[in-house]
Amino acid sequence: MKALISGIAGQDGSYLAEHLLRKGYKVFGIYFKKEHNQFKNINHIKDNINLFRADLTNYLSLNKVIKKVKPDELYNLGAQSFVPMSWEQPIVTTKTNSLGPLYLLESLRNLGLKTKFYQASSSEMYGRESSSPHNEKSPFYPSSPYAITKIFSYWMTLNYRKSYNMFASNGILFNHESPRRGEQFVTKKIVNSVAKIKFGIQDYLELGNIDAKRDWGYAKEYVKAMHLILQQDKPDDFVIATGEVYSVREFVEMAFKIVGMDIEWQGEGIKEKGLCEGNVVIKKNPKLYRPIEVDVLVGDYSKAKKLLKWEPKVKFKELVSIMMKNALKEHKNKMI
Ligand code: GDD
Repeated sequence: MKALISGIAGQDGSYLAEHLLRKGYKVFGIYFKKEHNQFKNINHIKDNINLFRADLTNYLSLNKVIKKVKPDELYNLGAQSFVPMSWEQPIVTTKTNSLGPLYLLESLRNLGLKTKFYQASSSEMYGRESSSPHNEKSPFYPSSPYAITKIFSYWMTLNYRKSYNMFASNGILFNHESPRRGEQFVTKKIVNSVAKIKFGIQDYLELGNIDAKRDWGYAKEYVKAMHLILQQDKPDDFVIATGEVYSVREFVEMAFKIVGMDIEWQGEGIKEKGLCEGNVVIKKNPKLYRPIEVDVLVGDYSKAKKLLKWEPKVKFKELVSIMMKNALKEHKNKMI
């Protein structure tokens, strides 16, 4: 079996590549940017995978790779996935997140391939107006340009399934984190800062809306659901979540607790501060607030449990612990 993964160098792409290699797949990957440390997540498997440089905003570059690989399964995980960036760069976000998957679907159709297609859809699509917990039937009320781009590709995936009888499925994944999470996402930012504060190389951590609540799962488990979604008898859409909800505030308190620091909150609103033994270790920065915030996102994964036989094992406390321990190790190694 041949699998092609767009965004293979990212958190999800790298875990999925490992998972598919273990299952005996021949793994091919598309990467986009050549940045410093770009391949840190896949360096350890680079001899076992085949990499192509292509651009999700360029149909021909994608078509060339697909024509060459002729994959049995294609996982579209590449995206501009940082929500705040989508207000700053809505056009690039749309080209990458909406046109990208459309180009992939169109390539498969034009090449007449029977490839199964997985689209990385997102819980952000539900937005701030919808009520939790969300399932596959919940309506979408997008609150960010990012969410709108993902809704386009969600519907396009469904439309190709119905119009052309293609095996095209959506995984609607709620927040999924790990030591491989990009540095700008809140969980990774928190554990990095807590480690640096613990080691005395940073004074405080700046955050935006710490009362936002999310359903936090472990990315390493979520990629298994992606694979299972493509092993079903028929294409379908699935919510992948833990069903539990915790705030950013609870995440940050837990991360500090793991390194033996208890947080005491003082003040209100933007002036609120987190202190430990009299020192300010958490501040709020108005620039980190979003123009529109999705206050709560929590998923109902009963359909995945029933049909995919998938269930998350790692819950919030263990997830924070995995990430915190890894950050401590990383920063300790940097100091040596
Ligand atoms: N990034 C960030 N940085 N977020 C902060 C900060 C901060 O300093 N302070 C508070 N937050 C809040 C955000 O406002 C948001 O409510 C929450 O922390 C989580 O932010 P992110 O980690 O950036 O993730 P996200 O929920 O916006 O989106 C992630 O999950 C989606 C699935 O629901 C991304 O991975 C998306 O690509 C993905 O689709």
